[in-house]
Amino acid sequence: MNVWDYEQRFEQTLDAGAFGYFAGGADDEVTLRDNVAAFRRWRLRPRMLVDVSAAAIETTVLGEPVSMPLLVAPTAFQRMAHPDGEIATARATAAAGTVMTMSTVATASPGEVAEAAPGAARWFQLYWFKDEGVTHALIDQAVVSDFRAIVLTIDAPGAPGRRERDLRSGFVVEAPIPAVEAATGRPTGLTPAEVFALVESRLTWRDLERLRGMSDLPLLVKGVLTREDARLAVDGGVDGIVVSNHAGRQLDTVLAGIDALPEVVDEVGGEVEVFVDGGVRRGTDVLKALALGARAALIGRPVLWGLAAAGEAGVRDVLEIFRREIALGMQLLGCVGCGAVTRAHVQSGPDPT
Ligand code: FNR
Repeated sequence: MNVWDYEQRFEQTLDAGAFGYFAGGADDEVTLRDNVAAFRRWRLRPRMLVDVSAAAIETTVLGEPVSMPLLVAPTAFQRMAHPDGEIATARATAAAGTVMTMSTVATASPGEVAEAAPGAARWFQLYWFKDEGVTHALIDQAVVSDFRAIVLTIDAPGAPGRRERDLRSGFVVEAPIPAVEAATGRPTGLTPAEVFALVESRLTWRDLERLRGMSDLPLLVKGVLTREDARLAVDGGVDGIVVSNHAGRQLDTVLAGIDALPEVVDEVGGEVEVFVDGGVRRGTDVLKALALGARAALIGRPVLWGLAAAGEAGVRDVLEIFRREIALGMQLLGCVGCGAVTRAHVQSGPDPT
């Protein structure tokens, strides 16, 4: 019926350790819960008697046509959710006509993901390694495999948030990470904490220019939560910003993505495309993101829930559920398309439920 059904099934399907890894957040998981709750504090203001007979939800992201304003966020270790992992996600996302962002910490190689869905638009999420040769090699893999953009994640400088579910359960991921293996020339077998330890913690905004010089691909930064950083990102020449708190897995008690979105859009919305993720579970959430100025929203966990339930078919179904909900919502909101959804279609207030 809806993506919550997939969430329920996810808990029943996975063993407790893996479930905790995928579902958990940092510290008290305040931000993790707030990502979902925050959408309920934003209410829609629909307009009536608008001719919506030709309402459509297609849009473009960085000039690339997509079938709906919803993209797939990068999530690590997808083969732990289903043996087909990122390959299934790539096929399902391509079939849905939207963009998959592949994680550096994926359990398939960029080449395998590209081969699974030839011609599909996909972005590569990059962690910047201390060893800059590794960073270069990761970007080269993305270029060779025809990825269309680099998404640099900047909210994990050298360490994951303290994810206490994993510490309690003692769960340690055991899966190879092909992109990192190829870039380092060594078998990985790294835990998430060990991967993060390889990520450069000395990076500053000044380094963005060097990164831009490493490929011709458009560059997005993921993990911006303030207007100050949005300005620095745009002045540093990025092509897009993903407003994100990493699913509440890094610094706890930061703003929900949807609550940080307005100030980022106010600062740089006229200059680059702004995206948002965290807690998007309904078509109406996507419409709220559009109303607050996002070009599109991204989903992380709902894809994992679909993947664990039924591989490629499960991810397809999750994306179709969103498509139906976005299309119906668009019509009932009185909007003919993504560009017609404005700040006037939303207002904030206390959670009514
Ligand atoms: C993530 N996320 C993430 N982000 C990133 O830049 N690189 C990564 O490898 C991962 N890995 C990852 C694993 C898991 C299990 C989760 C839940 C999340 C964050 C992800 O891209 C996105 O920001 C959030 O998942 C969006 O929030 P929702 O949709 O999961 O609520």
